[in-house]
Amino acid sequence: MDRYQSFARSGLGRFVVGRLGLPDPYPLRRHSPGKPPLDGPVLIGGGGRLADPVGAAVKSLGLDVVSGPAEGERYGALVFDASGIDSVERLRELYEFFQPVIRSLGPCGRVVVFGTPPERAESQIAQRALEGFTRSVGKELKRGGTAQLVHVEPGGEGAIGSTVRFLLSGRSAYVSGQVIRIGAAEVEAPSDADRPLTGKVALVTGAARGIGAAIAEVLGRDGATVVCLDVPAQGDELSAVANRVGGTALQLDITASDAPARIVEHLTQRHGGVDVVVHNAGITRDRTLGRMDAGRWDAVVAVNLASQERVNDALLAADALRPNGRIVGVSSIAGIAGNVGQTNYATTKAGVIGMVDSLSRRLAGRATVNAVAPGFIETRMTAAVPLFIREAGRRMNSLSQGGLPVDVAEAIAWFAHPASAGVNGNVVRVCGQSLLGA
Ligand SMILES: NC(=O)c1ccc[n+]([C@@H]2O[C@H](COP(=O)([O-])OP(=O)(O)OC[C@H]3O[C@@H](n4cnc5c(N)ncnc54)[C@H](O)[C@@H]3O)[C@@H](O)[C@H]2O)c1
Repeated sequence: MDRYQSFARSGLGRFVVGRLGLPDPYPLRRHSPGKPPLDGPVLIGGGGRLADPVGAAVKSLGLDVVSGPAEGERYGALVFDASGIDSVERLRELYEFFQPVIRSLGPCGRVVVFGTPPERAESQIAQRALEGFTRSVGKELKRGGTAQLVHVEPGGEGAIGSTVRFLLSGRSAYVSGQVIRIGAAEVEAPSDADRPLTGKVALVTGAARGIGAAIAEVLGRDGATVVCLDVPAQGDELSAVANRVGGTALQLDITASDAPARIVEHLTQRHGGVDVVVHNAGITRDRTLGRMDAGRWDAVVAVNLASQERVNDALLAADALRPNGRIVGVSSIAGIAGNVGQTNYATTKAGVIGMVDSLSRRLAGRATVNAVAPGFIETRMTAAVPLFIREAGRRMNSLSQGGLPVDVAEAIAWFAHPASAGVNGNVVRVCGQSLLGA
């Protein structure tokens, strides 16, 4: 808990926060092995082609499902299949389901609306309208609640399980106001549901600290053998992470001309290939454009974008990415919204989105390519931001707090899940529904 959050939870703090209408950062419920995914039953409504698969996916998580509101009940989640809404008039069904029960959603509760990608739907207007509804609900929810819209393409009904598992649990604690797309795919169910990445090899760049270290830990927790990569100067911290997750350390500057070849060699010779590639290494060299020397521009482009393209090309040329592979980029809300002092950084982070768009199409059916776009995450990178800007960044989101590295890592573990074969071409913000770029 940050200091403001501790204050807001104290007796006096509650009073002051309530009276002045200040941000109230509720402590988020995060995933913890052995704990139920949510507090309380899941109320499911609506009826279309997704009702049965959604119900089955929710039940498979061990959650209680109820289909009608009960007096005094506190729900863990409210889930609505809106795929049957084929006219503007029928949008009223959303109102009729949610309005009476929205205030019965418990702390850190979940709202998930399922629909059809508008351009594939009978009523493009009605399906597009779901987005405004869901995003507004996300902004209205208090006490750590989140809301998302999931577009399921026709044929993708059987591919929703891993996404339901992510959204209806503390794994998605800092994800809100997102529109996720699931396509038609053959889904591989993991043999061990608690360690779905057993037998998989994952490469994580920039793994010595911060978000990268958390990604290595979460992928390791989920059963993957993790190859942790970072610059030689971070060697000690890198070894510590690799030992903690039972993986290997690869000391390498990803901008070096021989880096792609060395990565391919390490992965193929030591591990027989790779299943999950996470391009996390990134740097900032902030200056407004007029004051930015070419060195700052070049360094950021080299680390954050050019090296990733070269590594992808080398892995694909060597056929080192195994079937049902995963490539995950780490973008940023700065790449979506732009940011003062970050023309170089935002260029690269928007470029990561371009990588997702192009590669996800090129590799469709063989591998998925997605990205996370973190907002304000509590790391050394953000601790270095001046106090006033830092405090604004931390609070300007629907959850009124910064996220933790583990929140980004959990989203990546969802992309990496073997049953996420239909989750392709997504850029999912892990930003607590930040106002920036929304
Ligand atoms: N912290 C945030 O709020 C935030 C927000 C949005 C996006 N991101 C992105 O998340 C990623 C991780 O950020 P972080 O906050 O953990 O940063 P960090 O600075 O704590 O960690 C980055 C890691 O990348 C490594 N690295 C840098 N250059 C490298 C190179 N040439 N070769 C190999 N490794 C290299 C560093 O040594 C470091 O260990 C970055 O891509 C960053 O842009 C962070």
